[in-house]
Amino acid sequence: MSLRLIANWKLNGSKEFNQKWFRDFFKSYKVDDLSFLGIAPPSIYINHLIQLTSDHNIAIGSQNIDIFSSGARTGEISSSMVSDMSAEFTLIGHSERREFFNESDDEIASKINEANKSSLIPVLCIGESDQENLNNQTHSVLQAQINKGLKGCETINSLIIAYEPIWAIGSGKTPKSNEINSIHQMIKDVVQSSFPKVSLKAVLYGGSVNSENAASFFSEDAVDGALIGGASLNGEEFALIANIYKDLKS
Ligand code: 13P
Repeated sequence: MSLRLIANWKLNGSKEFNQKWFRDFFKSYKVDDLSFLGIAPPSIYINHLIQLTSDHNIAIGSQNIDIFSSGARTGEISSSMVSDMSAEFTLIGHSERREFFNESDDEIASKINEANKSSLIPVLCIGESDQENLNNQTHSVLQAQINKGLKGCETINSLIIAYEPIWAIGSGKTPKSNEINSIHQMIKDVVQSSFPKVSLKAVLYGGSVNSENAASFFSEDAVDGALIGGASLNGEEFALIANIYKDLKS
């Protein structure tokens, strides 16, 4: 599997929503290949989505995992449990978790290790705030997030990094596609030079991606795919973005 386009449903979904999403998706998806697609639903629906995708090669993942694999951790879900349900990846360190749940870089590093131990592909989310962007601190902020997030991680067989500028999430604003390209290149260089035992499979862009602007991002060489929030809630819209991806990246 080479995961390249991930739907992050955040706190959205229901059994009815999930079923309708696939009906809408398959009405508009023009290609046979589903192997580059992933969906991260709320964890309670992982099993439902695994059932709905049993005939299709779409990866299912979680939006978060705990820092431990078991124990007295009421309300948490471990990486090994997500893997046990046949999910294949997990988002880690999304800016909403860093902000609303005070997730620290140390916790993020522990989660990356946990995911790696249970053979889940970690999707490490990084991104700068509006203020940091205005202060021209984007590169240093991202480098620090990578260095702290991967601290102590020796060998990682498959890592995906999602670059999601916080100011672009759900705002309709995005960096210019050539700026995203050079940031992705920088991310690849940092991982390669500082973490030679980490196999970085892809750098995805996230933040207000939709079927209108996707082509401009996917035309850039260092943009390997996208992590999509709002636009991924509509199966038809996600299918349109997937069609564009296939046209430009195959
Ligand atoms: P939007 O696509 O709604 O901007 O969200 C991006 C995101 O946070 C994906 O993880």
